[in-house]
Amino acid sequence: ADALRVALAGLGTVGGGVIRLLDANRDLITRRAGRPIEVVAISARDRTRDRGIDLSRFAWVDDTSALAAQDDVDVVAEMIGGSDGPALTLARATLAAGRGFVTANKAMLAHHGLELAELAERGNAPLKFEAAVAGGIPVIKGLREGAAANAIGRVYGILNGTCNFILSKMEAEGRDFAEVLAEAQALGYAEADPTFDIDGIDAAHKLSILASIAFGTRPAFAAVQAQGIRHVLGADIAEAAALGHRVRLVGLAEAGPHGLFQRVHPHLVPFDHPLAHVTGSTNAVVAEGDHVGRLFFQGAGAGEGPTASAVVADLIDIARGVAGPPFAMPAALLAAPTAADSGER
Ligand code: HSE
Repeated sequence: ADALRVALAGLGTVGGGVIRLLDANRDLITRRAGRPIEVVAISARDRTRDRGIDLSRFAWVDDTSALAAQDDVDVVAEMIGGSDGPALTLARATLAAGRGFVTANKAMLAHHGLELAELAERGNAPLKFEAAVAGGIPVIKGLREGAAANAIGRVYGILNGTCNFILSKMEAEGRDFAEVLAEAQALGYAEADPTFDIDGIDAAHKLSILASIAFGTRPAFAAVQAQGIRHVLGADIAEAAALGHRVRLVGLAEAGPHGLFQRVHPHLVPFDHPLAHVTGSTNAVVAEGDHVGRLFFQGAGAGEGPTASAVVADLIDIARGVAGPPFAMPAALLAAPTAADSGER
């Protein structure tokens, strides 16, 4: 069968990881996709940087947005990041041209998800974003496909690895926030602007996407009340432990009588709750369905292998022609998150 021809935009940790994964598991990916998945073009900011990969076999495109117009490209995979700017320009152009778009860009989807879903539908182009929420954990697929027949009451979880790493270290080593922050950044999971991690913004981006899948709403970042962990003290964590709790940065979306309630803030989690045992940079998501019961997803929320796994899984879906509408239902049916837009309960 004809190969699925892919252009990669952005060759950082995730983009490089996608090339390495496609190389490493080529045969099994081809079998599962039903046809080869072939990278035909790449574009990134810096052509000269040594990424430890032979890039000479791909066509290099200087102007990233030009990838959208390449006749030999079926799908663009975007790993640039940023809610606006080049990523958004590329997304709009690619979908408008009727080509598939796979993205790890949670900020862009949180702000422009509905517009992109509409463009995708109009252009009859698949739009997929498993990598945007909780890295390697297949939580979009899990909710969108696995829980498709359920009404979800709540979805919540640990959506930022940087914060979970910091909170775990503070607890285990009795140190203060400022001391462990630098260590967390050295891990390489932090956002380009680490205040996005620490102030709960990254988790809010992801929560707004999860909520839209779980509740059939438009992703609405502005509706999420977010508070981060910069004011959490070592003493708070010790006090919580004395009372049988751990401090975790939790994002929660819940359907209530007045609409959807979406919030990110430091939570006291009892020791016997599964989220209390999620340590280090791991992510976890809990969803409560009316027939399936409580689902618990856990795994690596960032990093090369996990995030590339999610990107390539989306490419495999597109290759097999099973992509479906981006938010589990047609964009026209996505409701505006009501009442709690203000964050008021
Ligand atoms: N900065 C994010 C985190 C990376 O720490 O979880 C994955 O989205």
